[in-house]
Amino acid sequence: MTTAITRLMLFAPALLLLGCGQGEVSYSRDIQPVFDNYCVSCHAGTGEGAEMSEYLMTDYDNVMEGTKHGKVVVAGSRMSSTLYLVVAGRTAPEIRMPPHTDESFAKGRGFMLSPDSIERIGLWIDQGAKNN
Ligand code: HEC
Repeated sequence: MTTAITRLMLFAPALLLLGCGQGEVSYSRDIQPVFDNYCVSCHAGTGEGAEMSEYLMTDYDNVMEGTKHGKVVVAGSRMSSTLYLVVAGRTAPEIRMPPHTDESFAKGRGFMLSPDSIERIGLWIDQGAKNN
């Protein structure tokens, strides 16, 4: 009896995690590839995001360093992280990322990340924004 309960207590949290599909997010496997595909074209070198906000997204250190105004990732809290808020559409439309302006739409590049990618970025931040 005791053993059964002990077992349950040990396995329940693991099952909960699996059940919600919330295994640990890996920065190198799950996050940087999204940035490489959808952000780096503007957030590196002479890209407009790099020039206007000085935000480089080419690797973990740059992503964590933030913009010329400061950090955009607060480890442990997606809702305090500008990086999450701009991709999740929780800011004014003008500052959503990738840009959603009429001009961007006209150039065929105003779009949102997939709900799956947005959720993974949120989870990665909530799990401590690790370099894993
Ligand atoms: C088409 C170019 C472009 C793409 C693609 C792009 N950005 Fe940006 N980004 C910008 C520009 C330009 C700014 C500066 C906006 C400003 O200062 O008003 C910016 C600013 C930001 C900021 C700072 C916002 C703030 O208020 O300080 C973050 C965070 C950001 N981008 C994240 C991303 C992420 C994440 C992606 C990919 C999902 C992305 N960006 C894709 C152009 C881009």
